[in-house]
Amino acid sequence: MTPTLILRNCTLDNGSCDIAIEDATIVAIAPHLDLTAPNEIDAEGKLISPPFVESHIHLDSALTAGQPRHNQSGTLFEGIEIWRDRKRTLTPDDIKHRAIEALKLMASQGTLFVRTHADVSETSLTALEGLLEVRDIVKDWCTVQIVAFPQDGIYGSPQNNELIEESIILGADAVGGIPHYELTREDGVRSVHRIFELAEKYNRLIDIHCDEIDDDQSRFLEIVSACALRTGLKEKVTASHTTAFGSYNDAYAFKLMGFLKQSEINFIANPLINITLQGRADTYPKRRGLTRVKELWQAGLNVSLGNDCIQDPWYGLGTGNMLDVVSMAVHVCQMTGLDEIDACYDMATAGGARTLNIQDTYGIEVGKPANLIVLDCPSKYEAVRRRPTVSYVISRGQLLVETAAPKAKWQREVN
Ligand code: FE2
Repeated sequence: MTPTLILRNCTLDNGSCDIAIEDATIVAIAPHLDLTAPNEIDAEGKLISPPFVESHIHLDSALTAGQPRHNQSGTLFEGIEIWRDRKRTLTPDDIKHRAIEALKLMASQGTLFVRTHADVSETSLTALEGLLEVRDIVKDWCTVQIVAFPQDGIYGSPQNNELIEESIILGADAVGGIPHYELTREDGVRSVHRIFELAEKYNRLIDIHCDEIDDDQSRFLEIVSACALRTGLKEKVTASHTTAFGSYNDAYAFKLMGFLKQSEINFIANPLINITLQGRADTYPKRRGLTRVKELWQAGLNVSLGNDCIQDPWYGLGTGNMLDVVSMAVHVCQMTGLDEIDACYDMATAGGARTLNIQDTYGIEVGKPANLIVLDCPSKYEAVRRRPTVSYVISRGQLLVETAAPKAKWQREVN
């Protein structure tokens, strides 16, 4: 064994260890390694974690807030209108520049695996082609999956049904959809069936914007779940948002939960944006606009988390930091028990890896690719509480980013 990099004094699963990396692979983990390497990092007892997984983001619209105007109502639907105007001016360079800026911002905060949606409801397919290029440009340090996402609906205009298939052929990793935004419920149902048909035909994953609305009658999740069961695609299927699930009556939600457990699909919650977007038509009591994260987790279903947006027409805030997302999930889902806090952290790491179907090559284990981060704190609990600096980001066995933690310097003595 000839390690190229050794990390010493790491805190992993509440124990201390050294980690040896040879080229791009983890080759040894032990309380103390009697080895040397040309590069060594003293982690000083800090928490070592697999990188964060951003399981739901829109890189094509990232960093466009205010272009051509800000979303004054704060609603999903005004956001869609603003984006419809902005996307007319998209160019490949515009997409590439902003997407790579956003990925660098995310990587510097510990995120190395990203599932992005690409709006494929515009005839030029500029967003998709730009993001396909980005996926290739960054592949040495960041893994990007692309969902062909028909923002205006598969049946929202005559060409969209063909555009989504063309996008899959061009190389999108997953088939997307937005059934609750189709013109009719029947179109919504039809769109879910079409998504499964395309995924089976081209052997792709599925990730559907599903029931992202406060309407308690928006029930496309049951159709996604039924299709996942009947096709056997199960864990290859993801339902994003499902915020209406937070508004379903308990009798229906209980029945649905039983079907969901059988279907074994993944869920993605985006608490930063949905706490602001949803409930806009409510007076008081005002709904939280989030899916039933805690109950899905308790039922043993896989839940992961996403930023969804970084400074775009739907959400003008955000820095792409997954710990901000985890913190918001802990608060809004009332998951403040210690095990629950750890579970929310895991949703941004291992849960995300399951959603992306990359769990076989993800995690800190001997023989797996050497992707890991060192956080400036001793535990997951402290990571969620303090949202600390990510001191080191190691990607493919090499140090990618090093960040010094801010330090307050007192200028006078105080008691
Ligand atoms: Fe989204």
